[in-house]
Amino acid sequence: MKFVRVSSVFESPFHLPCMLQTARILPSRLFLTPCAPSTRRWISGLSSGLSNHVEISGVRYPTDAITNVTPAILGKLPLRLHTQPGHPLSTLRSLIEAHYPDYAHLSSLSPLVTPYKNFDELSFPKDHPGRAVTDSYYVNKDMMLRTHTSAHEVEVFRAGETKWLLTADVYRRDEIDGSHYPVFHQMEGARLFSADAAGMRECEEDNARLRQQLARSDIVIEDVPHISPTNPVQPSHDPRHAELVAKNLKLSLNTLMLKLFGGVAGSSSENPLRVRWIEAYFPFTSPSFEVEVFFQGKWLEILGTGVVRQATLDTAGVANKMGWAFGLGLERIAMILYSIPDIRLFWSTDPRFLSQFEEGKITTFRPYSKYPSCFKDVSFWSPKDQPLHENDFCDLVRDVAGDIVEDVEKIDNFVHPKTGRTSMCFRINYRSMDRSLSNEEVNAIQAQVVSRLRDQLGVEIR
Ligand code: PHE
Repeated sequence: MKFVRVSSVFESPFHLPCMLQTARILPSRLFLTPCAPSTRRWISGLSSGLSNHVEISGVRYPTDAITNVTPAILGKLPLRLHTQPGHPLSTLRSLIEAHYPDYAHLSSLSPLVTPYKNFDELSFPKDHPGRAVTDSYYVNKDMMLRTHTSAHEVEVFRAGETKWLLTADVYRRDEIDGSHYPVFHQMEGARLFSADAAGMRECEEDNARLRQQLARSDIVIEDVPHISPTNPVQPSHDPRHAELVAKNLKLSLNTLMLKLFGGVAGSSSENPLRVRWIEAYFPFTSPSFEVEVFFQGKWLEILGTGVVRQATLDTAGVANKMGWAFGLGLERIAMILYSIPDIRLFWSTDPRFLSQFEEGKITTFRPYSKYPSCFKDVSFWSPKDQPLHENDFCDLVRDVAGDIVEDVEKIDNFVHPKTGRTSMCFRINYRSMDRSLSNEEVNAIQAQVVSRLRDQLGVEIR
C-alpha cells in the first residue's frame, strides 16, 4: 500500500506490482509472528463454524496462530484462469508454450505448498521478508499458498524434466489498486544441460542457432556482463560453462521477448524493440538478472532469471546438470499486450469482458462504460500493543467487499504525542466494473467493514 497514491489507476497499466519477491524487501517486516488472533475468526465463515479447521478441495487443515488465509482468497483457488479457454491469460500461456514446443508444459500443480518448498529448498534465508505473515498467506505453520512458481523447481527437476514450463496461480498479500491483486499468475521456465563437454557442446550449438534467429530481427539489446563481481559465478561452476549457460538463457529469453513484444512495439528498423538486461539478486540463482522492455515510453520489468543454484539441483538429485530458470508475471504482460487497464478485469465474469477474447488471438481490449466511484473513509485508533498492518486492513476489505473495491489509500497516519497510540485513516474507493452501485448498498458494505474492523482487528473507530 502506498501512503498516498498520486496517479489514477486508469491512467496507465504500468504501475504494476513488483513481481519479484526480492525486490520487496522492507526491513521492518515481522517474521512469522502470529497474526492478530482475530484474523483467524475470518475462517469460521468458510468452514461452517469449524474455526479450528480450513477446508480446501475437500481436505481439512487445522488452523493455528499464523493462519491468515481468508475465504475471499480461498475462493480463488478453483478458478485457474490460466486454463480457461479464451481467457487472455490462457492465450498468453499458449503463446509462450508455442515458443518452447519441445518443453514439458505443466499447469496443474496445487497452490498449497510447505514453507520449506516455497523458501528453504530454494536457499531463502530464514529471515527473508517474503516469509512474513504480512506478506504471504499461511493455512497454518506447515502449509501456505505458493508465492511464486519457483516453489516447484525441485520437484520438477527431480522428476527428470530438463526443459519445462510451468504456469500457475501465485498468492501474495498486497495493497489494493488497479494493478495489485493478491492472486496473480506466473510462468516458470527452465532448461538443464549435462555439466560436461557433451552438454556444453549442445549449449554452444543452441546458442549459435538462437544468435542466427536474433540476427534477422529488429531488436536492440542492452546487455550487462554475464558474470561480474556483484553477480558472481557459483563456486562449484567452471566459469566457462557458467558463461555459456548464461548466454543461452539470454539468447533464449531475447527470442521470447521478440515474439511477445516485437509486433506490438511495431519493431522495425526505425522503431526497434528495446530490451535491457540488468543485474539482480535471487537466493536461488547466480548470476541473476531481470529483463525490462521499453514500451510506450517506460522501462517495464518483465521477468526474473538466472543460472540455477547448484544446491537446488543437488536437492533434486540432478547434481550432474547445470542450467537456467526464469519466472515471469502473466498479468503484467497481458495488460500490455491487450491494453487491459485494471487487474481486476482478469477475474471478471461479465460477458462484455470475456466475449471480447478468442483463444489464441491477442486483441485490444475495448473498455465498456465506467461506473462512478463511491469514496468512503474510515478513521480509527490502532490497538496499542499490535499496530495494524495495512495488508490486514486490505484483506478484511477484500473479504467483505470483494472486487467492488478498486483502490484503498491510507490518507492519514499519526502517533498521539501523549498516549503513543497510532491513528489511521483509510479511503476506500468502491467502484464496480459491471454496474452502478447505490449509495445505500455501499453504506451497508462500509458498515460491515467498520464493524469487522472493530470486532476482528480490535481497533477503536474515531
Ligand atoms: N521466482 C522469482 C519471483 O517470483 C522469479 C525468478 C524465477 C527468478 C526463476 C529467477 C529464476 O520473483
